[in-house]
Amino acid sequence: MDLATLTSQLRALGEEALPKIAAAPDLAALAELDVAYLGRKGGALSGLMRGIGQLPADDRPRVGVAVNEVREAVEGALASARQRTAQAALAARLAAEAVDVTTPGRPIARGSLHPISETISRIAEIFGQFGFVTYEGPEVESDATNFQMLNIPPDHPARDLWDTMYVDIDGGLLRTHTSPGQIRVMHAERPPIRALLPGRCFRYEAVDASHASEFFQVEGLMVDEGTNLADLRGLLDEFAHAMFGAGRATRFRPGYYPFTEPSVAFDVGCLVCGGMGCPACGRTGWMTILGAGMVHPVVLQHGGIDPERYQGFAFGMGVERIAMLRHGIGDVRIFLDNDLRLLEQFR
Ligand code: DAH
Repeated sequence: MDLATLTSQLRALGEEALPKIAAAPDLAALAELDVAYLGRKGGALSGLMRGIGQLPADDRPRVGVAVNEVREAVEGALASARQRTAQAALAARLAAEAVDVTTPGRPIARGSLHPISETISRIAEIFGQFGFVTYEGPEVESDATNFQMLNIPPDHPARDLWDTMYVDIDGGLLRTHTSPGQIRVMHAERPPIRALLPGRCFRYEAVDASHASEFFQVEGLMVDEGTNLADLRGLLDEFAHAMFGAGRATRFRPGYYPFTEPSVAFDVGCLVCGGMGCPACGRTGWMTILGAGMVHPVVLQHGGIDPERYQGFAFGMGVERIAMLRHGIGDVRIFLDNDLRLLEQFR
């Protein structure tokens, strides 16, 4: 081995390696070339360097310089090729994973509140402005809370209006109105009380366009010193005007409920004919939206409240009735049908 041969072999190595490196498609191919040319054992450059030992001592440094040049050239080529392939890989990945932000999104199907829930919210919002707090009572009540404590003893004729389904456990029954909530609130709170009790009720009922055996009510109860019928009247007027419009006519009519004395029915001017009289209002020009009255002293006593000191008024309204008037719906049965053709109109 002489200097000239070794030098030309070094040059040949460089000339062979650089184009191959330039053409390598990926990092794996570059790693192979790295091992093949620069590997400590078995690499082509190491192989040539073994020849240096056979040269005369004077020539060795010159070969050393040439070896370093070739090594640096190969290393440099590998480094820039690695950078090139990494960039190409990144560019390919970006292209493959590109998101077209201008593509219109798929619309998400949006639900809506059921008209009954929406009406209850509106009722609670209006009475909330007068300080009424919403409570909830159970759908399964007892004969005591649904009837007896509301001044309806077992043989009372009013029970005929309020027959229901009975539950095997503890003489329970499906509540026929939200009024038992009054007893629960009176047991839980001290006066002054301003309570609202929305909820589902049940009755044995011949079902038709205006009667359902499952329906909703919102009960109201106010108990304080000096509460009177004029307060009730003023509050219900405000409610009717907020719910049905400021110009809506209202009236109190005598009524009868065992748990109030005196009892009233509260009417608003017919929303269909405006008071002229039409089939919707039975040609009276009025529509009844709730029953109400001054809480009977016996009921206050059952609620643990001294009727000598406190008075109260209460009211109970049918939610379906109010929803029907607000939205011009002609049949109660539609509310529990879950027919999307109705529900989708409340988006
Ligand atoms: N609970 C009665 C019903 O179901 C409605 C009612 C009338 C509630 C008068 C009251 C009230 O609180 O004072 O028909």
